[in-house]
Amino acid sequence: RNFSRRGFLETTGALGLAAAGGSLPGRALGAAPHILEARPGTARLAPAEYRSTPIWGYEGGVPGPTLRVKQGERIGRRFLNGLPQASTIHWHGIRIANAMDGVPELTQAPVEPGATFDYEFQLPDAGTYWYHPHNKTWEQLARGLYGALVVEEAETPDVDRDEVLLIDDWRLTEKAEIAENFGAMHDWSHGGRIGNWITVNGDGYWASTAKRNERLRLRLVNVANARIFSLGLKGFDGWIVALDGQPLATPQRAGRMVMAPAQRIDLIVDVTGEAGSEASIVSHERNGSYAVAAFEISESAAARRTEPVSPLPPNPVPETGPLGKARTADLLMEGGAMGGLRGATMGGRAMDMRGLVQKGKVWAFNGRADMPEEPLIAASAGETVRIRMENRTGWPHAMHLHGHHFRKVLENGGLGALRDTMLMQAEEVAEIAFVADNPGNWLLHCHMVEHSAAGMMTWIRVT
Ligand code: C2O
Ligand code: CU
Repeated sequence: RNFSRRGFLETTGALGLAAAGGSLPGRALGAAPHILEARPGTARLAPAEYRSTPIWGYEGGVPGPTLRVKQGERIGRRFLNGLPQASTIHWHGIRIANAMDGVPELTQAPVEPGATFDYEFQLPDAGTYWYHPHNKTWEQLARGLYGALVVEEAETPDVDRDEVLLIDDWRLTEKAEIAENFGAMHDWSHGGRIGNWITVNGDGYWASTAKRNERLRLRLVNVANARIFSLGLKGFDGWIVALDGQPLATPQRAGRMVMAPAQRIDLIVDVTGEAGSEASIVSHERNGSYAVAAFEISESAAARRTEPVSPLPPNPVPETGPLGKARTADLLMEGGAMGGLRGATMGGRAMDMRGLVQKGKVWAFNGRADMPEEPLIAASAGETVRIRMENRTGWPHAMHLHGHHFRKVLENGGLGALRDTMLMQAEEVAEIAFVADNPGNWLLHCHMVEHSAAGMMTWIRVT
């Protein structure tokens, strides 16, 4: 079978920055900048009996090119907006210079159709990251605008292969066209835009081959607007080595893996299934489970490796100071269907639910349904910050902080793994801690992108 894997290999092979000369001088992109264009295209998302699906994609494809860089290098792309609406690129999970963060109004003006914006920045951390628009994300992401950004360790782990698997959830019509009800209030006030067609790297039947006993690195990225995946492994023995790009101090056995929108899981897996069978990433759904990505196992490679999976080298993320001395803030999350939100303010004006819905808002952070003029917290660079979030809604949320990685403050006072996006269950209270060391204005929002558009968005300032 001729999978989209061929296209995938072409993009990972040819367009990585390594081929383009890793370090770019200064701020400007020079005379011959590398263009990354967002434009309409088509993709073979659905089975062959359907026509190709019209999408919007980086370089016209789904996914966009996989950008590969070595840790510490700089990358530069001239973003060209070939879309019929304004857009930007956000480099998700990168502890980036603020001006390059791609947030309309907060860090840059939106890039109008036909216009360009030069992104150029350094990659301080190795790991699995991704890029996507930050303007009308609820439409632009759903139409296919995303790609992987892989930052390689100075010394990459000893694996036979490295695969990026971008898992998406599309809402397709019977003709395999993207359903254009992006603004549906029902989605916005419930669990977000949940689709009916799952793809990996833009393919509904993503498949590959592997040899028994091979060791693979699999970089899973949830690029869906709102779907939470519950994943498992079949025919693999696996360890989680990184979450949201950041290495775990000790690799963890991969069992059932819950993955909220925007989260990443880096796995190192050994192929243990018999030759002739299939090893797969399995998605567990309410009505059963199925393989979202399958590897047909051919003959055996050498004997199975006996050396345990070792941790990836840590990234230079600063560790928090004493939590008792941290600067603190509270974030009350309210609203949504069945949430009992009576009203909220917008532009300083109190509004009832009806008025809010007319403005496309159904959620509130600290009683506000719009982006506040003042930050949730203003910290000076280097300060340890704690944010206590209280999810007083009937829905899970995927809370994402820009420009920083944080740790969850555990019940025993310890700290969880570094993350940039945290899944919170309905009614859950969770606290995060981090060193606010990156100057600038940084968003804090739900990554179920309909929720952030409908009120779940605030920001912090670091000076
Ligand atoms: Cu994936 Cu505000 O970001
Ligand atoms: Cu949410």
